[in-house]
Amino acid sequence: MNRTRRAMSAMVAAGALVLLAACGGSDSDGNNDGSSDGAAASGEVEVFTWWAEGSEKAGLDALVGVFNDQYPDIKFVNGAVAGGAGSDAKNVLASRLQTNDPPGTFQAHAGAELTDYINNGQIEDLTQMYEDNGWNEYFPQTLLDRLEQDGKIYSVPSNIHRANVVWANPAVLEDAGVDPKATYASLDEWIADLQKIKAAGSIPLSIATDWTQVHLFETVLLADLGADGYNGLWDGTTDWAGAEVGAALEDYQTLFELTNQDRQSLDWPDATQLVIDGDAAFNVMGDWAVAAFEEQGKKLGTDYLAYPVPGTDGVFDFLADSFTLPVGAPDPATTEAWLSTVASPEGQTAFNMKKGSIPANIEADTSGFGDYQQTAIDSYANDDIVSSLAHGAAAPISWLTDITSAVAKYGSTGDLGGFQDDLAAAAERNAG
Ligand code: GAL
Repeated sequence: MNRTRRAMSAMVAAGALVLLAACGGSDSDGNNDGSSDGAAASGEVEVFTWWAEGSEKAGLDALVGVFNDQYPDIKFVNGAVAGGAGSDAKNVLASRLQTNDPPGTFQAHAGAELTDYINNGQIEDLTQMYEDNGWNEYFPQTLLDRLEQDGKIYSVPSNIHRANVVWANPAVLEDAGVDPKATYASLDEWIADLQKIKAAGSIPLSIATDWTQVHLFETVLLADLGADGYNGLWDGTTDWAGAEVGAALEDYQTLFELTNQDRQSLDWPDATQLVIDGDAAFNVMGDWAVAAFEEQGKKLGTDYLAYPVPGTDGVFDFLADSFTLPVGAPDPATTEAWLSTVASPEGQTAFNMKKGSIPANIEADTSGFGDYQQTAIDSYANDDIVSSLAHGAAAPISWLTDITSAVAKYGSTGDLGGFQDDLAAAAERNAG
């Protein structure tokens, strides 16, 4: 390092310390060479997500608020592309990565989807940053296991979401003569009540476009196969062409026929809104939905109900959003600053409070979190954890794409046998 560089590094490190003292953060990189500590960086960082609207944007805005406090000299550039579960964003991202035009950072899912980006050499190894900041102590091992590959770690998680949740409107249930306090041990018991709601003239179960159908489908597989059988779908020990999957497909068919006709023109906020507005009794959606209820002043227990999808009690269907440092990012120092905010207890509290998820960082303060989120914290600590398909944890992007095509095709043809053949063929093509 030449003298000028060394002097600059010393200034950067000093600036970092002042800033850290001011904000109480814990994000120094500790090596004092100024090379990877974004604390005193200036410039801009483009943050690529699909949190473009509604409660998801509110979550992102809260995180940006903390970022602006911690790094006032770095401009946040919002690169969000609308569409739930990244249905459009992932394609835009893929072509940007292919043409060497990466954003400063992008949202990825812990698990198999992250592995895709790692295997393609599209994201940088952050192991050193974790060591410098002591982040290995911040995140639960169950999460680190899904972030690591070959002992290295490539992203910084912002949250943990639960996918297997049913949201219900108790007033719609009562109107249909269904006891809102009823609990359902199995899909069969639940389906009996869904039929009553149909007879009463309300939408029994609201869903939306393709990815939300995949989301519903994965919870049906989980309910009918159990955690071990569901995990076996991804490691080859459960036969996609077998009778157990066939029985789950029949349940999916029954449920699908109890959903709203206009599903293809909706995204998740619209499907959840049908429950909030009292037009539908139930919606199966990840727990980002709680943010939509809460944002509209609805109270758990009175205005809405939330519980595990029938048949999945005791299992936490897991997913986590995690931010990356893309290879060739325009300004790695500003990206590292963003990642430090994402990891920080302050960033995690502010973001998750609004997003409906629970913090990935175990040091984040959750005392102000709502009743639903407290149940999720408890469940994550005590339940069996399985990986979500629809949200990148269980299977690589190519496999998820094939399953999504099969689900969409079934939705338009109603051919259940063909559906199972397509799923078995997808497993054959993609299983590692
Ligand atoms: C998931 C993502 C969540 C939420 C959801 C709906 O894939 O992990 O944070 O954004 O999509 O868009």
